[in-house]
Amino acid sequence: MDYVGHRVVQEAAKETTSATTLFVPINFVLLSVLAYTVYSTFSRSNTTAPVPRGPPPKVFRTYTPRTLLPFNGEDGGPIFFAVRGRVFDVSNGRGFYGPGGPYANFAGRDASRGLSCHSFDTDMLTEDLDGPLDTLEGLGPSEMEALQGWEETFMGKYDIVGKLVSVADDNALRVAEAAQ
Ligand code: HEM
Repeated sequence: MDYVGHRVVQEAAKETTSATTLFVPINFVLLSVLAYTVYSTFSRSNTTAPVPRGPPPKVFRTYTPRTLLPFNGEDGGPIFFAVRGRVFDVSNGRGFYGPGGPYANFAGRDASRGLSCHSFDTDMLTEDLDGPLDTLEGLGPSEMEALQGWEETFMGKYDIVGKLVSVADDNALRVAEAAQ
């Protein structure tokens, strides 16, 4: 065989070698890893992530002492109380105000007088739920100051979810709204 013929045979042998080295096991492994990566990337981007369910939206509304009463945290429900006309959602303080808590007496009630006097007495709470609101008559400057301190604490800690009005004022509001 002459030189040229010899080189042709050599080159042909080289090509066969590079074709067979393509099908070695490591390449199958690498190809599988690549295929899996591509598949998992695309299949992940196609699945819609579940939308997390948050707490129900809070709506600011008007309460009377009677409509506030059910918000006492019984059966795991929300806990509200009112301080000087502001209704606070104190559900996050369930340990304080929930059933069996040390301040459960304020749950669902106008807590203004009890807080200002540091008293859990039942006569601190509005007795007639359909009557006028507690005007806080008879409280002195130190009680009013204590009450303001509580209000500041609650405003920094809880959401205000409504306004406490008497049944008479609530009815008057409804009449005025209907007339508009
Ligand atoms: C023996 C007397 C009392 C003790 C030892 C006591 C103890 C406490 C403690 C340790 C806290 C938690 C404070 C914090 O979160 O850093 C607290 C909070 C509170 N206490 Fe008292 N307390 C007493 C009397 C009262 C009284 C008489 C009232 C009102 C009638 C009252 C109303 C509250 C309220 C409203 C909170 C705040 C709860 C919140 O953050 O929502 N406490 N008390």
